[in-house]
Amino acid sequence: MSAVFINKSYSLGNGSAYLIRPIQSNDKERIIGLFNHLSPGSRYLRFAHAISKLPDDFLEDILHLDYATEMALVAVIQTGTEPEEIIGIARYVSPPNQRVCEFSLSVSDSHTTHGIGTHLMIDLIAHAKENGLQEMVGYVLSNNPKMLHLVSELGFKTSKINDDPDFKIVSLPL
Ligand SMILES: CC(C)(COP(=O)(O)OP(=O)(O)OC[C@H]1O[C@@H](n2cnc3c(N)ncnc32)[C@H](O)[C@@H]1OP(=O)(O)O)[C@@H](O)C(=O)NCCC(=O)NCCS
Repeated sequence: MSAVFINKSYSLGNGSAYLIRPIQSNDKERIIGLFNHLSPGSRYLRFAHAISKLPDDFLEDILHLDYATEMALVAVIQTGTEPEEIIGIARYVSPPNQRVCEFSLSVSDSHTTHGIGTHLMIDLIAHAKENGLQEMVGYVLSNNPKMLHLVSELGFKTSKINDDPDFKIVSLPL
């Protein structure tokens, strides 16, 4: 197992810590829990439309990744009664036989602005490089300045999409 697959612990700044680890096939309820902690606005920014429930095929896909072309990392905290709670997730997917991957990112509304999104992206980028990918791209809603700022701090370049002003494409050579 490579160095970037080792689970990493980060400080939340309030004396507690969170861990970043690859998603596991038994994370279903924790992924649903994260979704339930996203406000309608955050769900819209992540999925680009209003949804009230995670589609079953989305869950099926994310819990059974093909690690040759995909990766999903989750940020977890230990909570009182539950063994773990997922508070953030970053994922990339790449089409077969291509060296470009597309990312997505969500952090629970109650845990934003602690650096979790940035750390998830840094670790995801490291995995993508390790997996031999050459470029990471993302489609970010133009009205999502927080996400556009986050990725620009990580070196992504932002470009317009000519026929779709609602979205920007952000890209990073790996
Ligand atoms: C966009 C999103 C992923 C950001 O996640 P996050 O965990 O809040 O991101 P970070 O904490 O790493 O960075 C956000 C801000 O917190 C600041 N920050 C980072 N670490 C910090 C810390 N320890 N203390 C205080 N502020 C901190 C960052 O500087 C940044 O602020 P800035 O934009 O003014 O520079 C999250 O808000 C989200 O899930 N939104 C809804 C879904 C979405 O938009 N997804 C993107 C679609 S691809």
